[in-house]
Amino acid sequence: MRKLAAIFTLFLGIHTSVSAVEGMWIPSLIDMFHSDMVTYGLKLNADEIYSTNQASLKDAIVQFNGGCTAEIVSDQGLILTNHHCGFDAIQKHSSLEHDYLRDGFWAKNFNEELACPWLRVTFVREIRDVTEDVLAGVTESMSSEKINMLIKENIAKLEEDATSNNSHIKAKIKPFNLGNEYYMLITEDYNDIRLVGTPPSAIGKYGGDTDNWVWPRHTGDFSVFRIYANQNNESAKYSEDNQPYKPAHSLPISCKPKKSGDFTMIYGFPGHTDQHYASGKLKFYMETERPARIKMRQKTLDIIKPAMNANQLTKIQYASKQARIANAWKKWIGQIGGLKQLNALSKKQNFEEEYMAKAAEKTDWKKNYYGVVADLNKLQAQNEKYELARAMFIEYFYVGAEIIRFSNDFEELAFSSDKLESEGKLDEAVNKLLRRSKNFYKNYNADLDMQILTATTPVYLEYTSADLIPDGLNQNWENIVNDIQENSVFRDSSTLQPLLENWGKKSIKKLQKDPALLYSMKLMNAYRMKVAPKYAAFVNEEEKLMKRYVGGMLEMFPDKKIWADANSTLRIAYGKLEGSAPHDGMQYLHYTTIDGIMQKYDPENPDFVLTDRFIELYKKGDFGDYLQDDELWVCFTASNHTTGGNSGSPCIDAEGNLIGINFDRSWESTMSDFMFDESRCRNIIVDIRYVLWVIDKYGEASHLVDEMNIVK
Ligand code: ARG
Ligand code: GLU
Repeated sequence: MRKLAAIFTLFLGIHTSVSAVEGMWIPSLIDMFHSDMVTYGLKLNADEIYSTNQASLKDAIVQFNGGCTAEIVSDQGLILTNHHCGFDAIQKHSSLEHDYLRDGFWAKNFNEELACPWLRVTFVREIRDVTEDVLAGVTESMSSEKINMLIKENIAKLEEDATSNNSHIKAKIKPFNLGNEYYMLITEDYNDIRLVGTPPSAIGKYGGDTDNWVWPRHTGDFSVFRIYANQNNESAKYSEDNQPYKPAHSLPISCKPKKSGDFTMIYGFPGHTDQHYASGKLKFYMETERPARIKMRQKTLDIIKPAMNANQLTKIQYASKQARIANAWKKWIGQIGGLKQLNALSKKQNFEEEYMAKAAEKTDWKKNYYGVVADLNKLQAQNEKYELARAMFIEYFYVGAEIIRFSNDFEELAFSSDKLESEGKLDEAVNKLLRRSKNFYKNYNADLDMQILTATTPVYLEYTSADLIPDGLNQNWENIVNDIQENSVFRDSSTLQPLLENWGKKSIKKLQKDPALLYSMKLMNAYRMKVAPKYAAFVNEEEKLMKRYVGGMLEMFPDKKIWADANSTLRIAYGKLEGSAPHDGMQYLHYTTIDGIMQKYDPENPDFVLTDRFIELYKKGDFGDYLQDDELWVCFTASNHTTGGNSGSPCIDAEGNLIGINFDRSWESTMSDFMFDESRCRNIIVDIRYVLWVIDKYGEASHLVDEMNIVK
């Protein structure tokens, strides 16, 4: 059966003519691209996708805690997102006794759902083009400082006017196309979110970091939450009296058979792309910045990974951190590889030549645009030392050894205790840090952290120019690290806690001498004095040039389909369900099945362990109505242009039904953040039928499936 399907795909692959579509489109501009979506097979009207007058798909889609995406799948506010998006919440509710990461969790009724007061979801109520209003009063003769000030004022006023009569509603204006356009996002947050269910990591994170960013994929990357509202269905803080939210729209779910070539759309909140980088910057990223960051993270991962495998407590403590560090690390490696294969640099350079040739055609264009490419590349060359120093500081201070950033939080308490006291803020400050410490040490292993500090410091020093680090650090870093290791109170809660609990002169004296705190302050100071101002000036200049550069593209190449880079706002990407052939001599199928989970099963490798229950159910073969031609699809790929933030986004069919949850891209396509390649760029989606099977059969939570609207 499988073979037959493969041949069929191959056949389709050769004969389908329309190829993938680059771009993440602004939903309110749906009329511009709706007809193109129809050529791909879409059956919905524009109004059914985005509307402010009637319920539309957009009302079922939320941003999940400011990063990922989630979709509403029942009239009682049930939402689906990825396991990795719910990961922090699942981990926060996990302990050695209740290990929901290891065992999964399924609430049997509303009462068993777990409150996550730190979570929020954001609805988009309206997207409005406000370019003209934002630029009102701006004239060509103004200095750029004056222009920036005026724009800022206009934005502040417009945002205020839009929100004055409703406190839940927020209005935010964001620049699009590097400041050539502005849109206002009218949004509404809901803050009572509860965990309803999650599969064990052996399903939700199956394949772990080995398979992350990789096709073929077998990850059941989903988790289930619910939005709660007050009695009037309005946004409210957590309260026992809150009710499940009643949405304007929830996505029906389709379990119908699928095939290569079917229309797909991803509707969600892509975070950030950089399609317009000039060649100089792209080169710097590919050859200097990313390799340096990769090397730094590699050091940390080499220490964390074996420690996690050796100890169950460490595994729980470091699971979330490790996943976060490894995720970008692996993506960056994929991006560099992909960009090289695409010959991205020479493509950029060729386009820059074309751009300049075009600019030379008209006097106006020549004046405005001809020089901008060279200016950008020159500016980059002059400043990349600071950009690199900033990147390495972020990696070292915020991603590396935790003792640095944790101890830094105590600066004010240690050095301004008297001031805090006289302002009556001391108790509050001490209590806040006590609480922070409790959370921190729950997931902290000092020995590991010291190893990380020792391993990452030389990398920080190697890539940061000597005039941009604390004085003398190149010579004395080993002494500093030793001193922290031997004498810092931050290594252990048993040395820090008593100082906080009995806050007084003695504690102040102790903290003021603490080697970790002093070192973190030195690092921060060096960054603030030597790097940050230069970097800020650089970015300021660069933004101006980029706005002009992209403005030139919009003006001089009106036929080019230019989409605005992702900026964490709601977007639509469309294309079709399809495989790919990213390397010579090989073809990726468009879907995987549960058989592949069993093929990858390896009890010796923590990324590929399965629970006994899973193996039992597989052997039993009770796959209900979720099969297609005797197979249970687990994941599939499509040619929708997506990026980080699209995790958890609904994959929607031609009729507006949910068919899967987006969670990744293939490694060969991660360069699409900089340059899209229609033949290779594929996003990875977990099939909704596998999700339902896991909820229904594995989790024995069929009441959740019953709550959803399933079209057969
Ligand atoms: N690569 C996906 C994303 O960027 C999934 C990450 C979570 N999974 C993991 N194994 N770390 O978010
Ligand atoms: N896993 C990513 C996320 O968390 C999506 C993958 C991508 O970058 O496309 O948003």
